[in-house]
Amino acid sequence: MKKIIFATGNAGKLREIREIMEGTGVEVLSMKEAGISVDVVEDGTTFEENALIKAKAIAAHTDAIVLADDSGLEVDYLDKAPGVYSARFMGEDTSYDIKNQAIIDKLEGVPKEQRTARFVCVIAAVLPDGRHLSTRQTMEGYIGYHAEGENGFGYDPIFMLDEYGCSSAAISREEKNAISHRGKALRAMKKMLEEAGEI
Ligand code: IMP
Repeated sequence: MKKIIFATGNAGKLREIREIMEGTGVEVLSMKEAGISVDVVEDGTTFEENALIKAKAIAAHTDAIVLADDSGLEVDYLDKAPGVYSARFMGEDTSYDIKNQAIIDKLEGVPKEQRTARFVCVIAAVLPDGRHLSTRQTMEGYIGYHAEGENGFGYDPIFMLDEYGCSSAAISREEKNAISHRGKALRAMKKMLEEAGEI
C-alpha cells in the first residue's frame, strides 16, 4: 500500500486528509506514526517556502511521499498581515481572543469593502524521486466587527463569510471543510498526485 506522510501533529488536519484520501488505497501517516521526529524552523517568508521547508526536512528521513502545509490569514487593509506570521502574531502564547480583538481594533472605522481578507493554505509535496509539487488555495471573506461562533479555531471567529452571513466559527466542521482553504488545497493536491501517477 502506498504511504503518504503528512507533516503535522494536528489531529484535526490528519482526520481531514484521511477523509479526502479515502478510496485511493493510500495510507496517511503522521510524522509520529512514521517514527520521524524533526524540529523544523519555518523561517521562510512565503507560505510556499515554509511548506516546502517542512516537507523537505521530513523527506530526508523517508522514501514515502511527504506532504506539508502552511496556512494563515491575510488582511488586505493590513498589507496582508499577519500572513505567514499568523501563529506568531502578538506572540505564540497570546490567546486568540486577544489577537482577534487586536485585528478588529486595527480596522476600527474601516468600511466593509476595505475589510477583505482570506485564509491561505499551501500544500507542498516532495515525491520519492525528489520532485516537488505545490498548490495554493484560499477562502475569501472579510473581517467582522466582533468575534462570533464557537466552532473552528484561531481567527475563525472574526472571519466573515458572505455566502453564510456569519463567521467561519459559526458553521459546522463539514461545511467549513467543503469551502476552506485547507480542504481545497488537500483536494487539489490529491488530484495533482493522481495526475502525476503517484497515487
Ligand atoms: P498552520 O500553518 O496550520 O499552523 O496555521 C498557521 C496559523 O494560521 C494558525 O495558527 C492560525 O492562526 C491561522 N489559521 C490557519 N488556518 C486557519 C483556519 O482555518 N481558521 C483560523 N485560523 C487559521
